[in-house]
Amino acid sequence: MNKLGIYIHWPYCISKCPYCDFNSHKIKNYDPNEWLLAYENQIKYFKEYLVSQNLKNIKLSSIFLGGGTPSLMPPKLVEKILLFINKLYRFDKNIEITLESNPTNLELNKISDFKSAGVNRVSLGVQGLNNTDLKYLGRLHNASETFVVLDLLQKIIDNISVDLIYALSCQNLETWNHELQAFLERFSIKHLSAYQLVIEKGTKFYDLYKRGELKIVSDDVYKQFYFSTKNILEENDFKQYEISNFSKPNFISKHNSIYWKSNNWIGIGPGAIGRIWNNKKERIEFENFKKPETWLKNCLGHKINFKRIFKIDFEISEQEILMMGLRLNKGINLNKLQHRNFLFDSEILQLQKQGVIKIKKNKLMINENYFNVHDYIIRKIINNYLSS
Ligand SMILES: C[S@@+](CC[C@H](N)C(=O)[O-])C[C@H]1O[C@@H](n2cnc3c(N)ncnc32)[C@H](O)[C@@H]1O
Ligand code: SF4
Repeated sequence: MNKLGIYIHWPYCISKCPYCDFNSHKIKNYDPNEWLLAYENQIKYFKEYLVSQNLKNIKLSSIFLGGGTPSLMPPKLVEKILLFINKLYRFDKNIEITLESNPTNLELNKISDFKSAGVNRVSLGVQGLNNTDLKYLGRLHNASETFVVLDLLQKIIDNISVDLIYALSCQNLETWNHELQAFLERFSIKHLSAYQLVIEKGTKFYDLYKRGELKIVSDDVYKQFYFSTKNILEENDFKQYEISNFSKPNFISKHNSIYWKSNNWIGIGPGAIGRIWNNKKERIEFENFKKPETWLKNCLGHKINFKRIFKIDFEISEQEILMMGLRLNKGINLNKLQHRNFLFDSEILQLQKQGVIKIKKNKLMINENYFNVHDYIIRKIINNYLSS
């Protein structure tokens, strides 16, 4: 039985956050019927592609509505999309259906309607736990508004994930620790993603940073925030399973696991990317047109086109499999790689001797104590892999 995930991109938000380089745009007038038809046409396109690759016996393990801010979508639109997918694909009995949401626009009725539509997991962009941090991040909601939404949400949805951006230059470690502990005690969260702020090119933060008007914390300060956050989460029954992700038992994100394990998913919507292993064991990438209007027009036409469809180069594919797999605490299954000679390279043996990496039950993993410098270690491993 082949497992598959579907990612659906909704590109609109109330406003653009100064740190965000996702394919998100300020919302404008749109016709939900046109969007439904365009999404349906692409969903159908991929069904035909999968059949053409003999990937027939497929079960959907996850659907992820991401953005942008999909909680701005009319719940009826979400319902119709999910019904359409259900007509063409078999759902796993424990399918995870996630809606990415922003606290600014998630009121009681809407949560219930999304649940009736089939959504069983909400990923809420909490981002900051106090008003100073939220203001720093340019968010439109304050902390008490966020908490009101969470109070409502937890009465309706069992599987709640929250996103936080932390280790900001405006934060104090002790205050953060205290606020995180109080937050975890107050809300019934099942999954938490804690991200370090990344200064992305093309964002307002990038310009401020370049002008010296925005500071980022040093590696040492980040390390303190990182391990302190990990400890607090672990004391509250969360287990780290990926560099930035923590879950209560049995609440690992099924969708993101598809990415980290380099399995199959299809990407629907503007800018969405999908990757499928075809019947020749090649990894094919489908990249959608990024501009919402271009994507929409294309998917309303008779023939669906993509910005690019291409076979991922073997070396790049291997690098990515390694890079994604090594983000997991349990590491990467070595059977996923085409060769293992690199494990005998002196640098890799040295890393093993130092306890930075380990091999257990045919899996290569980074020691959690070095996760704060994972980029550096992953780069080293990849270089050895490619040159061996
Ligand atoms: C598509 S976005 C968010 C969904 C929703 N629109 C929101 O803002 O709440 C997914 C997540 O990526 C994280 N993120 C976005 N840009 C980031 C950046 N520059 N640095 C760190 N995390 C970032 C945020 O935590 C965000 O919740
Ligand atoms: S962080 Fe979320 S709300 Fe802000 S611009 Fe990005 S996708 Fe939109």
